[in-house]
Amino acid sequence: MAPVFQLPLNVGQIDDVQELKKARKTKVPDRFVRDMAERPILGTIRAPLLSSSIPVIDLKKLMKGNKEEFHFEILKLSASCEEWGFFQVINHEIELDLLEKIEKMAMEFFMLPVEEKQKYPMAPGTVQGYGQAFVFSEHQKLDWCNMFALGLVPHSIRNPKLWPTNPPMFSETVEAYSRDIRKLCEDLLKFIALSLRLDENIFEEMFGVSVQAIRMNYYPACPRPDLVLGLSPHSDGSALTVLQQGKGNAVGLHVLKNDTWVPVQPVENALVINIGDTIEVLTNGRYKSSEHRAVTHKEKDRLSIVTFYAPSYDVEIGPIQKLVDDENNPSKYRRYNHGEYSRHYVTNKLQGKKTLDFAKIPPK
Ligand code: OGA
Ligand code: NI
Repeated sequence: MAPVFQLPLNVGQIDDVQELKKARKTKVPDRFVRDMAERPILGTIRAPLLSSSIPVIDLKKLMKGNKEEFHFEILKLSASCEEWGFFQVINHEIELDLLEKIEKMAMEFFMLPVEEKQKYPMAPGTVQGYGQAFVFSEHQKLDWCNMFALGLVPHSIRNPKLWPTNPPMFSETVEAYSRDIRKLCEDLLKFIALSLRLDENIFEEMFGVSVQAIRMNYYPACPRPDLVLGLSPHSDGSALTVLQQGKGNAVGLHVLKNDTWVPVQPVENALVINIGDTIEVLTNGRYKSSEHRAVTHKEKDRLSIVTFYAPSYDVEIGPIQKLVDDENNPSKYRRYNHGEYSRHYVTNKLQGKKTLDFAKIPPK
């Protein structure tokens, strides 16, 4: 999340989807109805039985496994990042209590009266607070989602006015959760480096004090899940993203693989990890920041708690020399300042992998 800045925007009326649900209308307002090509039509989604689902990585084997287990898991990690850009991690050692607690806090927050939540408004063109991010015009279609987002690290990106005092334990829980998730990101980046045969500290040394932000996405049940999207297709602008799906939620997250949307089946107590644009650039495209989206359900609400972990804004990013070979694998991306990329990311609507055009060197 880039520093807060305000644009003079006319984004039109943005209905709160939770309030629409409460009103029990069967018709979905036009602004949420997607063009045909964007609708989550069943024929274009891979059926669960046919899918090879996204890989599961056992962190215990990477942290404490014997040589063989470690080696096997590293290979699996590398294949996941190359082929999917996604994996689920089990045995991550984050207390299940804490995972449950953050989920409970998030739900309590979203269940507050809308007037209470609107005390922490996400101003148009900004990405922190309660509302809808990435809306820049009154003609833009809207996602069937309520978001609440906070910048966490470094402290300078925090906006204390947006930290809720209700539920009472909210802030404390976010702090504890974010500390543990940060550690997980640091560990994962080490293993990702090793899986690329790079020095294990390469990312940490390059990133400086990494930027960390949290976003809670609440997707109320929708009377017409066939017409709307919970979250528009996009790749994440982060280096790594950690996503916690609500316990017992319906499947809602889809990953695009070989032009097919593959649903991410929840694995108990696992966290979903995805590669963001920054790692795609650093690895010169070897590890992919896959396009993904969220869909809604006719009867069930869904919650996700998402952490974005990215380099410090002042860091210069470009393909790592060791992963580039002028003859056989020339640089696909230019060098750029990560803060500039962040700003570019948050000032454009979510549109598949389009934001990464910012960094692409056109093929000769
Ligand atoms: C995101 C995201 C998917 C989900 O917040 O960037 O991709 O399932 N969320 O909420
Ligand atoms: Ni995402």
